Amino acid sequence: MKISVIGTGYVGLIQSVGLSKLGFEVTGIDIDERKVKKLNSGISTLYEDNLEEELKKFINENLKFTSSYEPISNSDVIFLCVGTPQDDFGNADLKFLYSAVESIKKYIDNKPKTVVIKSTVPVGTCRKIQEILKDYPVEVVSNPEFLREGIAFKDFFEPERIVLGFENPENNRSINLLKKVYGHFEKNNVPFVISSWETSELIKYASNAFLAAKISFINEISKLSDKVGADIKTISEAMGMDERIGAKFLNAGIGYGGSCFPKDVKALAKQFESFEIESKIITSTENVNQAQTTWFFENKIKKYYGNVSGKTFAVLGLAFKPNTDDLRESKAIELINILLKNGAIVKGFDYIEKARENTLNKYILSDSKSIGYSLHILDHLEDAVFETDGIVIATEYDFNIENWMKIKELVKEPVIFDGKNVLDSKKLKSLGYTYFGVGRN
Ligand code: UDX
Repeated sequence: MKISVIGTGYVGLIQSVGLSKLGFEVTGIDIDERKVKKLNSGISTLYEDNLEEELKKFINENLKFTSSYEPISNSDVIFLCVGTPQDDFGNADLKFLYSAVESIKKYIDNKPKTVVIKSTVPVGTCRKIQEILKDYPVEVVSNPEFLREGIAFKDFFEPERIVLGFENPENNRSINLLKKVYGHFEKNNVPFVISSWETSELIKYASNAFLAAKISFINEISKLSDKVGADIKTISEAMGMDERIGAKFLNAGIGYGGSCFPKDVKALAKQFESFEIESKIITSTENVNQAQTTWFFENKIKKYYGNVSGKTFAVLGLAFKPNTDDLRESKAIELINILLKNGAIVKGFDYIEKARENTLNKYILSDSKSIGYSLHILDHLEDAVFETDGIVIATEYDFNIENWMKIKELVKEPVIFDGKNVLDSKKLKSLGYTYFGVGRN
């Protein structure tokens, strides 16, 4: 079986390398020729644990990349993995998806093909694409991804479910083909959810919005916890002991970021709007998240110093979560911008080199003159914390407590603002630090 994967972003690249590891002949297609060249020489265009090692194993074997759509004509299955970013109004922008659909048209001959939509798309999109391709021997399938950045490769090989949506779930030729593609997982007893297009499309949005809502819920509780002197970490832990609630995604902090949650929550709210249905929870999820970083700055950092102008802060963590280079909607970057706007000097650090590089590029490419010498990106944590007035934790890295003894000797003032509630506050206090968390002190 020959497979084409269109788009080599986080989803498409994992899908391409993952399927080649499963033994399929895979061609990754991307209009960006520079990316294609890099990938063909075995260099990953993004940071993801284990990805480059695996890419190197299969490139020029059963995996190749190209900018031409020609391989479509020989492919049995075509995965569409292009981005569906947010447009100016908060909707999912489908221009890349529709452009890819137009591009594949001319390479579809009489041989039947299965076009699988992996990109996150609003309800009704698969139906529209099937309509666009109605004169071609094509069956459109919805197959949303649930990959977490940082552990996406692991998630590809250990999925919790595989969702497949069809125009007619009972009668279609693609189901057996996809069961072959994902045969490895069927053997490993991964549950398959077979549904209609609309159900499948909505499963993805509902899953992401629910997780985001869980985070916003605990963040809202954290504000009350803060006021009354309770400890949100203990609250989350005790809540999580109830199996109906579940312990995951109850960690209060400065809010969620990334390429998925912010965009998908907004796009889901827009879908409610387009059907003239009120979406109170989804809209509030977004509103709580938007306000959370500013709340942290105002109620913790600014409150402590009165005025942060001229103060120096180490911001630890730059990407939207650990072990990724992805800065999209990163709360760390939002916090850095707030600090800079308030006249502070920021020394940023992330364990991932590419996240540091991306941060530098982001500010260099934007109007960096306005921030002048106020932002420094350091390659070592020790340099970032050196002579700072305060340390801000902005992503949930597993910081080693042993280091905090050494770090105390390097800083001007031992104050920690734990924006992700990852540190052991009692231990830090016993070392002489002043500690502020989210919903706990
Ligand atoms: C998410 C979904 O988890 C994945 O299934 C989907 O396919 C894509 O979107 P990802 O964007 O990689 O994955 O990030 P995730 O690990 O879910 O975290 C998102 C954000 O939520 C991060 O900024 C993280 O810091 C924040 N978060 C997470 C919290 O603030 N608290 C938590 O308890 C959990």
